[in-house]
Amino acid sequence: MLRSHTCGELRADDLGREVTLCGWIDRVRDHKGVIFLDLRDRWGRTQVVIGPESPAATLAAARAVRPEWVVLVRGTVGARPEGTTNPKLTTGAIEVVCRDLEVLNEAETPVFQPGATELPGEEVRLTNRWLDLRRPAMQQNLFLRHRIVKIMRDHFDELGFIDVETPMLGRSTPEGARDYLVPSRLDHGSFFALPQSPQLYKQLLMMAGFDRYVQVAKCFRDEDLRADRQPEFTQLDVEMSFVTSEDVMGVIEGLVKRTAKEILGLDVALPLPQLTWDECMERFGHDAPDLRYGLELVDLGAEVATSDFRVFKGALESGGRVRGIRVPGAAAKFSRKDLDDLTAVAVEGGAKGLVWLKAEANGDWTGPVAKNLGPDVAAAIRTKLGAEPGDLALIVADSFDVSCKALHMLRKRLGSQLKLFDPATMNFSWVVDFPMFAHDAESGGWAAMHHPFTAPRIADREFLSTDPARCRAQAYDLVINGSEAGGGTIRIHDGATQEKVFSLLGISPEVARERFGFLLDALRSGAPPHGGIALGIDRWVMLLGGLDSIRDVIAFPKTQKASDLMTGAPSPVDAKQLVELGVRTVVPPPKA
Ligand code: AMO
Ligand code: AMP
Repeated sequence: MLRSHTCGELRADDLGREVTLCGWIDRVRDHKGVIFLDLRDRWGRTQVVIGPESPAATLAAARAVRPEWVVLVRGTVGARPEGTTNPKLTTGAIEVVCRDLEVLNEAETPVFQPGATELPGEEVRLTNRWLDLRRPAMQQNLFLRHRIVKIMRDHFDELGFIDVETPMLGRSTPEGARDYLVPSRLDHGSFFALPQSPQLYKQLLMMAGFDRYVQVAKCFRDEDLRADRQPEFTQLDVEMSFVTSEDVMGVIEGLVKRTAKEILGLDVALPLPQLTWDECMERFGHDAPDLRYGLELVDLGAEVATSDFRVFKGALESGGRVRGIRVPGAAAKFSRKDLDDLTAVAVEGGAKGLVWLKAEANGDWTGPVAKNLGPDVAAAIRTKLGAEPGDLALIVADSFDVSCKALHMLRKRLGSQLKLFDPATMNFSWVVDFPMFAHDAESGGWAAMHHPFTAPRIADREFLSTDPARCRAQAYDLVINGSEAGGGTIRIHDGATQEKVFSLLGISPEVARERFGFLLDALRSGAPPHGGIALGIDRWVMLLGGLDSIRDVIAFPKTQKASDLMTGAPSPVDAKQLVELGVRTVVPPPKA
């Protein structure tokens, strides 16, 4: 070993000890000839002093070193002088009086200093990710990730789950996103798909009798990215045989409790609250609502039914909804400009506009459309919303879907803008009873709300033939602070129901046989009832770490445009490689 201790290890009871430390120069300060070096490694920071009494060569070396140089320090642990101890630093009581300073490697002036408090833009961080990962904050994030994954592995191991690896090169499993494809060299014109999830493999493991499966699984989805979405992400993937929804949820609840306790010191009460999908959409306009604050949606259909106001009338006549949110005491806080901003949020959510009303001291509404309401409707809205003087009301009139989306976005925006929740609180809850199917705008037919292997609720099975829109699934999503942190279902375990669902999804028997023949055969070979769930590990770490971006918990993430700024992937390849693969590109490669 080059070193005797790490940079986070020495304490007051090491005084007088001869030590050797290695690390990066975090900071250099020259105080009238006494040089202080902060030495940094994964474990912490230690102050190193080189004074006039140090050997001349050591002093010269100390004058030469620059931030991010890698050095080895030999010296003695000394007490910091009165008043210079640093309680914020674990090594803050001591310093190492340096006898010998050896430069292990110099560093060019870094693009940015990992030790600096000011951060460069994310592009610079991602391009120079190795420097960014030297930052203690990033190292903390990855340690947190390690601890969370360790808890997950321990939890499932103790419960008898077996970790089985499934292929990366396989056949597409439909999870609703575009596939990443890998051309086959040996079979020109054929492609593997990288897994969007190990869904079918884990089901086949149940049919093979493994009973309880778990995997930390990489998933690939070519979809539009956001702060909580990456093209390549990691799931804790779980499957169990002979279970109901409640059994799967129970296992995950145990994990939630344990993780919250070990990571945050929080006691989470079990069972976690459950909301149905219908209730979520009605009360919050979204299937992963943030329950840390109120601002619930209120239906105003009956109240405005007699209104002649074009906007309300139009929405109700075309089968839509008029719904609003009461924002307590917010009237005075929102200027005209702020309300224009909120209107823009609603419009981004698909609404044609936003009605805003301020409740005056005498109870009257003011706002651009207040006079269009008429006294009766105005009073009815006031009563239904429970509006008090000083409140702000925001109303959207549109189709159910648009009113959900626009009001959800407004609610989310107001929650953070008005700081309606304590960022330290955590809310864990389940959303259950999802519809089996959603209307697919593209095909005009049905699309699977979760995936095509999801079982309908037993009582709803007949709706598969009579009224698919009414059919609810045995599905459950785990929501943490308004973020979908996991989702799963009980699966179809008989071939006939699976074929029925395929046909509802517009998959012909021929195509079903061609793409999923192995599944249909396996379902007819003695398939146990089974179900499972997948947790988004990246999101768990982001949420438990109180972070805003999933990119901060992934060592080498991609940008919103799905590129890796450090390596330059994706990149053009040699013509020779393409020929071998039997692939011709339509876009000509850029001229070198
Ligand atoms: P689902 O598609 O809901 O279910 O995915 C499970 C969880 O994975 C996380 N997640 C993502 N995280 C980061 N970036 C993404 N692009 C991304 N997409 C999803 C979410 C989500 O809840 N096979 C099913 C699970 C099952 O039925 O057992 C599945 O993949 O946290
Ligand atoms: P307009 O007559 O289109 O200018 O709309 C009158 C007011 O109603 C404006 O304040 C719009 O922002 C608002 N508005 C228009 N359409 C909607 C809608 N679908 N839902 C809520 N408010 C709307």
